[in-house]
Amino acid sequence: MDTLVPPQLPLSAGELAALGRAAGIPLSSYRRAHVERCAERAVVRTGCVGPFDLAERLARDARARVAFRRSLLVPVTRMFRDAHEFEALETDLLPGLLRDRGRISMWSAGCATGEELRSVAVLLERLGVLEGSYLLGTDVLEDVIDAARAAAPAGGAVVRFERRDLLLDDAPSRGFDLVLCRNVGIYFEPSAQAHVHGKLASVLTRGGLLMLGRSETLLRPETFGLEQVGRHVFRKART
Ligand SMILES: C[S@@+](CC[C@H](N)C(=O)[O-])C[C@H]1O[C@@H](n2cnc3c(N)ncnc32)[C@H](O)[C@@H]1O
Repeated sequence: MDTLVPPQLPLSAGELAALGRAAGIPLSSYRRAHVERCAERAVVRTGCVGPFDLAERLARDARARVAFRRSLLVPVTRMFRDAHEFEALETDLLPGLLRDRGRISMWSAGCATGEELRSVAVLLERLGVLEGSYLLGTDVLEDVIDAARAAAPAGGAVVRFERRDLLLDDAPSRGFDLVLCRNVGIYFEPSAQAHVHGKLASVLTRGGLLMLGRSETLLRPETFGLEQVGRHVFRKART
């Protein structure tokens, strides 16, 4: 009986580079185990004989490339994901920010199809400050940004969705009172994670808040000028 031969893992540096070039993703910045799982599944799915063969397939087959990019980048989200985090935003964190601000500027970094931004928009509406607030959603995947734009919330806020790579592009040039980057850093290698956390911290206004995902934290928030104020929430120094 024939048995399915899995691709040879771990991936060599050459295989990783070839796959990264073909997929258009700096794979060395993503967690190796995650990349290898995605590569293994893609080899099996496409019937390729190994990582180099897969890289060639990704370079010439747009559908296979899109499928590989999506499996690696995981553009999955939903409204009020991890509901208790939104409860904390509504009852405590946003009212705290609004004590010395009339409106909120918010960045949903790695927003996928935009539900996180739309969930915050609902809270701002309930708090009576949606109008005049500034909401930015960014993601590296162009097609999810298109979907996010098509469902952008109304209500007098300025809402923008932009394609932006957290690893390769500069941070936005304005300041934000609230930055959400949830379930994105979990896929990055620790050094890439720290690089991204530095960018996120750099755009926070004084007293502004960074919220990470349920299973994410900052090991040494003080290196980014932040203090921990909740399990996954960090505040920029006020002075
Ligand atoms: C699991 S989703 C998280 C969506 C939302 N933040 C949430 O928690 O529901 C991860 C998103 O991060 C995006 N992403 C991954 N790497 C990225 C990068 N280097 N720059 C920008 N976005 C990235 C993916 O495209 C994907 O849409």
